[in-house]
Amino acid sequence: MTIKEACQSLTGEIVKWRREFHRHPELSYAESRTASVVAGMLRQFGLDVREGVNGYGVVADLVGKIPGKTVALRADMDALAIVEETGLPYASEVPGIMHACGHDGHMAALLGAAQILSGMRDRLRGSVRFIFQPAEEIPPGGAIGMIEAGALDGVDVIFGLHLWSEFPVGTFYTTQGPMMAAADLFTVTISGKGGHGGLPHKTVDSLVIASHLVMASQHIVSRQVNPLDSGVVTFGLLQSGSAFNVIADKAVLKGTVRSFDPVVRDLLQGRLEQTAASIAQMYGARIDMDYVRGYPAVINHEREARAAMQEAEPVFGAQHVGIMQPNMAGEDFAYYLQKVPGAFCFVGAGLPEGPVYPHHHPRFVIDERALPLATEWLCRMALRYVM
Ligand code: NI
Repeated sequence: MTIKEACQSLTGEIVKWRREFHRHPELSYAESRTASVVAGMLRQFGLDVREGVNGYGVVADLVGKIPGKTVALRADMDALAIVEETGLPYASEVPGIMHACGHDGHMAALLGAAQILSGMRDRLRGSVRFIFQPAEEIPPGGAIGMIEAGALDGVDVIFGLHLWSEFPVGTFYTTQGPMMAAADLFTVTISGKGGHGGLPHKTVDSLVIASHLVMASQHIVSRQVNPLDSGVVTFGLLQSGSAFNVIADKAVLKGTVRSFDPVVRDLLQGRLEQTAASIAQMYGARIDMDYVRGYPAVINHEREARAAMQEAEPVFGAQHVGIMQPNMAGEDFAYYLQKVPGAFCFVGAGLPEGPVYPHHHPRFVIDERALPLATEWLCRMALRYVM
């Protein structure tokens, strides 16, 4: 039986597992039921299973007969605080929680690969490590703690995938180099001195100072970042003032900074902090900035991204495998790629006839025909290194 045939014949099971996860979603850092279901199945497949890795992480090794490389495959396990509105017969049974990002499908597809590959153990030259990671959705995320707990020890190369509803089922996309952005968050609090709207000389006007900060920050990307690099500084919130004739004593601004290159990331943060400090000094207000770093950028390694596309061709057909534009969403797979070579890839899961709802939407659905394709690609990636 070929890998393709093995995946097709396992489709019913994979879909059943996915629906089972879909019925029982759990929030980030609380995936206890999910983790024990996953671990139980991996044990049934005969793998060496470690549970409780950085919370609810599960790591399982398939050790081949002959020593060789170790290839890691990763799935995430968490769901979101969303009230499901799909009306599906297997919709969430947990009020207010929904698998609205496809992580249920990631687990099912990877379990399918674990079952198929475990049946080939005698022919494997090396090991396959299956990483089921908690808490992808909420920084600091599960990946970093799993790496600290040894999830990547001995790993030569790693791959992961995201089912993606905005690409139609039957397609596969990735890219060499920057793929998803580093996404940081900041809050600025400006403390001035309030007063009478007709007596501005007796105040320190926080609202005017906030306006200056917003405008001055527009120079950061347009005049301080190399035009051939990319970055975003967005102010998404500005709150200040209470009445038409009162000068505001306080202003609060919140925003996000996005980048791909770590040097650009440092530059954006540094310039934003300097701009705020200079404006504070110029106008005599106090400006406090709380800058929180989210996940770093997902940077695919070139050789491994090429390998991922090569293995995708027999699965999806060469005409359905493409290079995607970098995506400004974040993903903590980034941390694995900082440690070992690998690539993160998107597997199309959109219904060809629509409607297509974005990830994290209450009506988000995937086309389950994507699942055996994802399993097949995962199997092929593993076998590329251990067969
Ligand atoms: Ni996701």
